[in-house]
Amino acid sequence: MATHDPSSDVNSEVNDGDDFKVHVFSSSSELLEKLHENWKEKEQPYPAMYSSVHGGIILDPAMMVIPIDDHMVHRGHGVFDTAILLDGHLYELDVHLDRFLRSASKAKISSPFPRSTLRTILIQLATASQCRKGTLRFWLSAGPGNFLLSPAGCPKSAFYAVVIKEDFLQCKKGVKVITCTIPMKPPLFAAMKNVNYLPNVLSIMEAEEKGAFASIWVDDDGYIAEGPNVNVAFITHDKELIMPIFDRILSGCTALRLLELAPKLVEQGILKSVGTGNLTVEEAKGAAEMMYVGSTLPVLPIIMWDDKPIGDGKVGEVTMALSDLVWDDMVAGPETQRLSVPY
Ligand SMILES: Cc1ncc(COP(=O)(O)O)c(C=O)c1O
Repeated sequence: MATHDPSSDVNSEVNDGDDFKVHVFSSSSELLEKLHENWKEKEQPYPAMYSSVHGGIILDPAMMVIPIDDHMVHRGHGVFDTAILLDGHLYELDVHLDRFLRSASKAKISSPFPRSTLRTILIQLATASQCRKGTLRFWLSAGPGNFLLSPAGCPKSAFYAVVIKEDFLQCKKGVKVITCTIPMKPPLFAAMKNVNYLPNVLSIMEAEEKGAFASIWVDDDGYIAEGPNVNVAFITHDKELIMPIFDRILSGCTALRLLELAPKLVEQGILKSVGTGNLTVEEAKGAAEMMYVGSTLPVLPIIMWDDKPIGDGKVGEVTMALSDLVWDDMVAGPETQRLSVPY
């Protein structure tokens, strides 16, 4: 029978209470070995990471780390954004980069590089990743320094980015949603994409606990706001496309693109009008069709809300026409929207 030496295995030192023995890594090479062991035999979903702290692109997942004294880690002083990588193209990279820098400015984080350099780094990262389908996520942080509240001791802001292999397809099935009971972020924080997503996390957890896909936030004035990481759109019985106004919520890049593309459906007589506006819960629940709108979806039909059907409770035809518009733009849209990654 094979015997096992517990001293050779850090994880096996787990006992209860007073008996718990914490391993002390005696050397960097021992730690590195352990980090590599954690990744062994696991499929590597992160083909490449960039860190301005490391000063380059990292291909070893065990080394894809950020410092614990980074102001983003211990105080949430960071902003982020995500662009889609589809068929070897970055979709709407510039729009995401613009929103990213607007978020950074609201969070009073200055970038360690000019916009053009951030863009070049992201393209080189996508190239190094060799990934053709997934997401490109990036962060600006006040940077490492000390553990104090003020970022005054963080001499240099930090830029991090990672490519994540992900498979996503156009969503065709309808989902159920609930009204969120977790308080919404106030407008200043909801309108900037900062890393404080605890309300959003609790919101999706609440939905999952109740057997729903996600939830809908209603603001203090009783108007529809957004989902935890998606915008929301409605088709009225008069065939109007209405999205909540973006002043108190995140202005979704997909939502804005949808508003640009949707007039094509007006020309075809499928929609009567396209616009933004304030919708009460009653108006929204009485809509003919409803959908989530966000980068990886890009449009997800909603068929039930708080256990009541939206419209006839089936996936709406206008919703799917809008979904086709955005999906076609993602896979075959103009060069202005799709940047071909130079692998
Ligand atoms: C709170 C919130 N609203 C809306 C969105 C949708 O934005 P986008 O279309 O840029 O993915 C996101 C995702 O980034 C989000 O986190």
